[in-house]
Amino acid sequence: MAPSSSPLRTTSETDEKYANVKWEELGFALTPIDYMYVAKCRQGESFTQGKIVPYGDISISPCSPILNYGQGLFEGLKAYRTEDDRIRIFRPDQNALRMQTGAERLCMTPPTLEQFVEAVKQTVLANKKWVPPPGKGTLYIRPLLLGSGATLGVAPAPEYTFLIYASPVGDYHKVSSGLNLKVDHKYHRAHSGGTGGVKSCTNYSPVVKSLLEAKSAGFSDVLFLDAATGRNIEELTACNIFIVKGNIVSTPPTSGTILPGVTRKSISELAHDIGYQVEERDVSVDELLEAEEVFCTGTAVVVKAVETVTFHDKKVKYRTGEAALSTKLHSMLTNIQMGVVEDKKGWMV
Ligand code: COI
Repeated sequence: MAPSSSPLRTTSETDEKYANVKWEELGFALTPIDYMYVAKCRQGESFTQGKIVPYGDISISPCSPILNYGQGLFEGLKAYRTEDDRIRIFRPDQNALRMQTGAERLCMTPPTLEQFVEAVKQTVLANKKWVPPPGKGTLYIRPLLLGSGATLGVAPAPEYTFLIYASPVGDYHKVSSGLNLKVDHKYHRAHSGGTGGVKSCTNYSPVVKSLLEAKSAGFSDVLFLDAATGRNIEELTACNIFIVKGNIVSTPPTSGTILPGVTRKSISELAHDIGYQVEERDVSVDELLEAEEVFCTGTAVVVKAVETVTFHDKKVKYRTGEAALSTKLHSMLTNIQMGVVEDKKGWMV
C-alpha cells in the first residue's frame, strides 16, 4: 500500500496555520493538518494502493452503508515527539488487530496488520511537523474503516475506504484535578450480543445525550452500567475504568460489552509489574462506591484519576494526587511513550 505520487508540499496557508498553533492551549479538538491517507478496496478483495493526499472533505455515495446504517469503525492512537526529536507511535499493531476484530463483527473488509501500521507511519511522516513539542501534547491519529460503496438494502458495502487523518491534541478532560463522574441509571452504552466490544462508530453518538445531561449538571463524564442487570460498572463515554482496593486493581472484563482498550491492557500490565494483583471481572456499583481509588484509561484520556462518583443521591470521594496509584501508572506509561525510560516492552514504533 505504497503512496502513489504523494503531493508532499507545504502551502503558505498551512505554514501560517502552523505558526498560529498555540501548543500550550491544545485541548482535544481538531486542528486540521496537511495530509491524510486514503485507500479503497472492493468487498472481499485486498487493499492495495493507498495515497497520501491533502487533508480535506471526501466524496461518498449518499447510499453508502456508513451514512445509512453506520457500517464503520474507527481507531485512535498517538504519535509522540521525544526530547531528542524522535517521533514514535504507541502499539499500532494493537489498533490494527482491533480493527480486524471489528471488521469481522460488521462484515467489512479490513486492511492487513502490515498495511495498517504502514499507513499510520506514512500519515505521521507526511505530517511530522504537527507532532507537538515534548510536554505540549501528542499527535492523535484517527484511522477509519468505512462502508463507502452504494447499497440500498441492509447488506455489507461493495466497497470500503480506509482513511487516516490526525490532529495535534492536548488533554481530553480539561480538569486539573480528578473527574467527577455520574453513574447513569437511565441509559446504557452496550448490551450483550451488540457491538460494545468493538470500535464501531455506532457506539458513540448514543452516549452523547447522557453526557450532555451529566455535563449540564456539573459532572465531567458518565459511567455506564451493564444493561442486563444494572448492577455492574462497564465504561465511560470514551474510556475504560479501574478500581483499586488494597493491593487489588480490578476492571470489567472484555466479554462483549466493554471495549478492549490498548491503554487498558498496557496499564493492567504495568500495575502487575509493580506488584498489584490485577483482576478482570465483574465489578459491582457497590464495590465501586467502596473502592479507595478509581481511575480511567484510554488513548485520548491516557490515565485519569476519578475524584468523585455520584450514584443517585450518594457521592463518594477517592484518593487522587501523588499518593494515588493512577499518578504512578500515568508516569510509568508516559515515560515509556516519551522515551524518558527505555521501552523494555517493545511497545514503541
Ligand atoms: C480514544 O481514546 O482513542 C477514543 O476512542 C476516544 C474518542 C471516542 C474520543
